[in-house]
Amino acid sequence: MIAHALDIEPVTKAAATTQLKRLNPALKKGAQVNFSKAAGNYNTHAHVQKKAADDLFKLINPLACNKNKVCVDLGAGPLVNTQQLQRLYGTVLSMDLSFDMLKSGNEGDYKICADMDNLPLQANSIDIIFSNFAVQWSANFKALLQSLYGVLKPGGQAYISTVVEGSLNEIKTAFAAVDSHNHINTFNAGDYINQSVQNSGFQVNRVISKTYTDEYASALHAIRSIKAIGATTQNTANTRQGLLTRSALKKACAAYPLINQKACVSYHVVLLSLNKA
Ligand SMILES: C[S@@+](CC[C@H](N)C(=O)[O-])C[C@H]1O[C@@H](n2cnc3c(N)ncnc32)[C@H](O)[C@@H]1O
Repeated sequence: MIAHALDIEPVTKAAATTQLKRLNPALKKGAQVNFSKAAGNYNTHAHVQKKAADDLFKLINPLACNKNKVCVDLGAGPLVNTQQLQRLYGTVLSMDLSFDMLKSGNEGDYKICADMDNLPLQANSIDIIFSNFAVQWSANFKALLQSLYGVLKPGGQAYISTVVEGSLNEIKTAFAAVDSHNHINTFNAGDYINQSVQNSGFQVNRVISKTYTDEYASALHAIRSIKAIGATTQNTANTRQGLLTRSALKKACAAYPLINQKACVSYHVVLLSLNKA
């Protein structure tokens, strides 16, 4: 069952949408629609996300895990990390903005369709926050960190990976040949992430910066990969509206920077291990 913890009742697709409209209509709706469309094929395309998840799991001290702990997987996607988290913690709550993403998983999994920028969780109620490749979608990372600090119990831990500025630069370069609009999201700068962490109240155990790169046989495959994982919503005023024409796509593909005849897609990621004292 997929529930919305704010309403306590099971949530319908329509109710989830209404809830989101009250927040940040265009951005939230766009992200929800795109991620829902991508839900079915997410696993096939999410190579980089999987590598980042593996690295995030390595930050967890297995000796500090036990079956009494409650873990929230924030921006859980199609529950790709649920089983691994269930082996470490007693209860795993998978939370995602997209109803369709949450349709995956097993009977008996706990799922909440909710917006991370409006957390439906009580203060001091959660032991662990795990969030891989998702918080870059928050409308306000600084405020989100403060909310996460609030919902964690004293002694609670947060393991977070987030995509930062400089990511998808190959795609940006390719589309610069088409027009002056933004075709990809803008991501928070690494410095802003660091500052937000410093101001959040969390103790910092580890901060790791890493670049993950996917390789594609052609520019077209590389451009399509972004769409396939649902990450095409753009969060700036200068976003291009409407569909890309065939000739514009051709132009972008021609301008794509190839390395050894391969089209790379790079993601700069910060991985955080944080503690609430
Ligand atoms: C790139 S996927 C990551 C999925 C998974 N954590 C993984 O490791 O592969 C990002 C997820 O964040 C979710 N998301 C985006 N904005 C969100 C929001 N405001 N609140 C909750 N989830 C959100 C998307 O629906 C999507 O499932």
